[in-house]
Amino acid sequence: MKQSFGQLQDGTAVSRYCLTNEQGVTVSLLDLGAVIHGILVPDRAGQLADITLGFANAQDYAESTTYFGAVIGRHANRIKDGAFELAGQPYQLAKNNGANHLHGGLMGFDKRLWTVGTVTADSIEFSLISADGDQGYPGTLSVSVRYHLDNNNQLSIEYRATTDRDTLVNLTQHSYFNLSGQLDSTVLDHQVQIFADRYTPVDASLIPTGVIASVAGSALDLTQATLLGDVIDQPNEQLRLAGGYDHNYVLNSAGDLTQPAAIVRHPASGRVLTLYTDLPGMQFYSGNFLAERTVGKQGIAYPQRGGLCLETQLFPDAPNQPNFPSSILRTGDTWHSTTLLRFSIDD
Ligand code: GLA
Repeated sequence: MKQSFGQLQDGTAVSRYCLTNEQGVTVSLLDLGAVIHGILVPDRAGQLADITLGFANAQDYAESTTYFGAVIGRHANRIKDGAFELAGQPYQLAKNNGANHLHGGLMGFDKRLWTVGTVTADSIEFSLISADGDQGYPGTLSVSVRYHLDNNNQLSIEYRATTDRDTLVNLTQHSYFNLSGQLDSTVLDHQVQIFADRYTPVDASLIPTGVIASVAGSALDLTQATLLGDVIDQPNEQLRLAGGYDHNYVLNSAGDLTQPAAIVRHPASGRVLTLYTDLPGMQFYSGNFLAERTVGKQGIAYPQRGGLCLETQLFPDAPNQPNFPSSILRTGDTWHSTTLLRFSIDD
């Protein structure tokens, strides 16, 4: 189903599409940013509620730096000083986060109008072309993202990208979840479990130090289901630097799409989200920068920590960290990755 979602300041029309399944689950998407605008899932009592943060109109998406629900590209998270070398050649990317490049730059994929391809009742494909030199990146990049909702309440997100010159690619999805469905509340009453024994610590500008550290014995250890409110304000240097969780976890699943990467539970409503990915990393971000009480859908003001993000990815600053998996995409190769979000109920 296609609806108008208003227009951008320059008159560009934005559309909203809805996928539904036999369980009554609805996922709505925008061609702006290939955004997940809302996900309606039932609680224990069968009550449907929207569990993602978002804006009421297109212009708010265009102006915001929250990345609500968007597909992020070309490169998720930060690249130090926006600089990297590829085949001995230096490149300078747009700097949009202090001295650093964040989430694809000033006009990242979250701000682009995507072309809508095949649409069915339960799936939609978006694509875009990122021109050679876009935000400083080499090569013309062709990107597609396909969302598919099945009748077991699983949403799959499948990314593909090809290039005509060697370049960098690291695509992710930046949805903020609040499984309570009460989007004016924080996620501190959520239990988070991340199947990762290691993570990549950051410096004060949230750039990885390059170390791959063990989570053991620290507040970063979420290998057991952990109530966020119990741990997020622990005296821990990494939590202090980020104002909460904003860290790349090195997933134990290590590319195995059949092993869960993370499980988030909201005990009060019974809603559960299980995430799977074939990528090696996942940024767990606890909405620390939502401090300005951003006003979203239904006029709701989102508090700090009002949503949490599980951004499947290659590691931040990969092009400058020789010991991290490479984010280089070679000409002739296809960047292909799948993330699965499975919604269920705890009794
Ligand atoms: C990411 C980053 C955060 C922050 C948010 C957007 O997840 O890791 O530091 O920039 O995006 O606000």
